[in-house]
Amino acid sequence: MLVSSISQLIKDKIKVNSEITIGGWVRTKRHSKIGITFIVLYDGSCINDIQIIANSSLDNYKKEILLITSGCSLIVIGKLVKSPKKLQNYEIQASQIKILGWVKNPERYPITPKKHSLEYLREVSHLRSRTKLISSITRIKHNIALYIHNFFHKNNFFWINTPLITTLDTEGSGKMFRVSTLNFKKLFLDKYQTINFKKDFFGKESFLTVSGQLNLESYACSMSKVYTFGPTFRAENSNTNRHLAEFWMLEIEMSFANLKNIINLSEKLLKHLCKKFLNNHIDEINFLSKIKKINLINKINKIILNKFIIIDYNSVIKILIKNGKKFKNQIIWGKDLSIEHEKYLTNKYFDGPVIVYNYPKEIKAFYMYLNNDKKTVASMDVLFPDIGEIIGGSQREHRINILDNRINELKLNKKDYWWYRDLRKYGTVIHSGFGLGFERFIAYITGSCNIREIIPFPRTPYNAKF
Ligand code: 4AD
Ligand code: MG
Repeated sequence: MLVSSISQLIKDKIKVNSEITIGGWVRTKRHSKIGITFIVLYDGSCINDIQIIANSSLDNYKKEILLITSGCSLIVIGKLVKSPKKLQNYEIQASQIKILGWVKNPERYPITPKKHSLEYLREVSHLRSRTKLISSITRIKHNIALYIHNFFHKNNFFWINTPLITTLDTEGSGKMFRVSTLNFKKLFLDKYQTINFKKDFFGKESFLTVSGQLNLESYACSMSKVYTFGPTFRAENSNTNRHLAEFWMLEIEMSFANLKNIINLSEKLLKHLCKKFLNNHIDEINFLSKIKKINLINKINKIILNKFIIIDYNSVIKILIKNGKKFKNQIIWGKDLSIEHEKYLTNKYFDGPVIVYNYPKEIKAFYMYLNNDKKTVASMDVLFPDIGEIIGGSQREHRINILDNRINELKLNKKDYWWYRDLRKYGTVIHSGFGLGFERFIAYITGSCNIREIIPFPRTPYNAKF
């Protein structure tokens, strides 16, 4: 690398008075009357900016430095000195400043130093990582991904790369994006006037996956403890602050584990990630607390310090009916909980995370283990305050006859599931797993109200322009 990064300057404690070269973009610039220009430079390597002191004795002071504006890219050579101001530890006394890229029409530069609304920043998604907010979230996301991999590595799980293209609708919602090389302008229709997918690339109707779970189960039934971590796709027309058409999911799958085991693992994982976050990101946490006007430390500590409430669906319905508050969505046994119910439970009634288990089978996917009551399945959702469901999981139906009954009841095509059924025919075992919505979790810990701020280029209905 040609230049040092700001994080290196801070972390590696580069010696004061040594000569360094640094590259970055101008956040702000200020000229003083005494012929000095102060430039605040960022390079995204950490939350800190660094101040550059440009003296009028520099060769290009009048011709170039006076014309620098926010967003210009610079290479600065200079001496690292202790800043007289307390807040900024170091600054650079520049001996040379090279302007790599000017900002054309500075008055029209979209990322001025003033505060911008999140909606506005979404309109300039290609530039929004230049803000402290989005770059902070991005660094946090990177590190949480590392903590996730480390956590599972230490606990003897293997990372499996499950396919993104599939022919199966794991969750049974029917809301999948089609993958096809057919020419839609010149479709080959068979004698029933339907599309002949045998002519398509995979010789079968194919889609982007909504979950890697089914494939992951195949590896769990041989390697015992596995996880997959990657993008998943849902063609739901949900324009909410919690839904994306393309989002990342961490899915784990464990053999010889029942519902209780994965409930415990989910709590252990979430607490571990929150602890890591609190211990390693205090600067970002303080910054986010300030601009979001919330006490993030308290919010995260609440997750770490309190035991999650674990309660079955039946009891939850009783609580919701009893509370007397009018909900927009009626509470009926057998219906899924809506976000207002989830928020009531987490934000008000229990004031913390809640794990709801044993949902009615009708509202859950075909693969979940049927309980003895034949009405509920061994499922679980982890609900967090503000954001609602962040984890969905279950014990899997490992008994071939009961699985087949469910496949028939739901009128799924049994033939399509031949390989999944094989896992139940050849040495079947009790196994369980869950999926964590990565963006939802990051939104929670960063105090973000909308997961569109958590993914670099959000995909939502009518929006894939970047
Ligand atoms: O509850 P879901 O649909 O569960 C599954 O897909 C299972 N196959 C997981 C498993 O057991 N391996 O999704 C899991 C999580 C949700 O709890 C939520 O946090 C997130 O994925 N999620 C979404 N996040 C953003 N946008 C969407 N449209 C999401 N849909 C689900
Ligand atoms: Mg779910």
